[in-house]
Amino acid sequence: MRDLLAALGELRERLKEIPQADERRLQDLKTEILGRKAGTLTQILGALPRLDPASKKEVGASANALKREFETAFAARERALKHAAGVVTGLDLTMPGRAAWRAGLHLVTQVVDEICDIFRELGFTRAVGPEVENERYNFFALNFPRDHPALDAQDSFYVGPDLLLRTHTSPVQIRTLERYPPPIRVVIPGQVYRRDPFDASHSPVFQQIEGLAVDEGITFVDFKATLATFARRFFTADTRVRFRPSFFPFTEPSAEMDVQCQICGGVGCPTCKQTGWMEILGSGMVHPAVLDNCGVDSERFTGFAWGMGPERIAMSRHGIPDIRLLFENDVRFLSQFAGGAR
Ligand code: DAH
Repeated sequence: MRDLLAALGELRERLKEIPQADERRLQDLKTEILGRKAGTLTQILGALPRLDPASKKEVGASANALKREFETAFAARERALKHAAGVVTGLDLTMPGRAAWRAGLHLVTQVVDEICDIFRELGFTRAVGPEVENERYNFFALNFPRDHPALDAQDSFYVGPDLLLRTHTSPVQIRTLERYPPPIRVVIPGQVYRRDPFDASHSPVFQQIEGLAVDEGITFVDFKATLATFARRFFTADTRVRFRPSFFPFTEPSAEMDVQCQICGGVGCPTCKQTGWMEILGSGMVHPAVLDNCGVDSERFTGFAWGMGPERIAMSRHGIPDIRLLFENDVRFLSQFAGGAR
């Protein structure tokens, strides 16, 4: 009986091991002490019937009390381990996470916003206009001759005898000039439509950003400096630009602006067709006839205007070879340009 009490005393010491035990060690201890056949305490309890009544009472009381203490300690440790693993809440915190989908802005939307932001710093406000226009706004007030090919149903989407999907954002120049007296400085982003094939460099629907500045004393110098400043802010501070003479009915003189190819730096590559340059916009000094058509005194006011294609600009910046990539909405393509939510 003394031996049994001594054994119980030693066993009691083992209680201290439990709060530090990990899962594996806890199971081992449980088997060693409370195991159904060979457990140390189980065997002590099993020996009770062979003792005399007085010893049975003494040893039995301590052994049962110790058994309860072990059970409580094991249960507490098990709970603590489960809680640490999150199993209590049904979560397995060790499981690899699933990547969360994050919404983002389309590359072209990001480019439109970025361009408008640069012009906002230069004093331009954002304006919009309708996508369905009549011929006066889309063509005639912009000084197009009556026989211009763009008026042909072959080239433009007509939805009625004098109603068409706008072929450019320039009609919003007219709407702005009719509505607001100068000084005017606006940028006009929007969707436009043309009967073009859907191929690597054309889409029947695309975006434009129109710009218009009209005030007293605006010169060709303001025009060139504003657009060159834009190009250097949008691309890089040392980007070279050049203006080439061109023709548009609503500007005189007219020019196209090229920027140094962003892919090869100007030495020539397939993207710039070995020229080292990329055309990014059409522009010019507002034709006096346009001002007159809108009731703005062309003797007193002058201005400049431009129109650019954000898809083209996005393509030239990132070396995207096919405009259709911007319309197919393949997330693997778009997520390369994941932008912040608006
Ligand atoms: N509207 C022209 C186009 O779609 C682009 C353009 C050229 C706009 C010159 C302008 C400009 O405002 O001055 O091709």
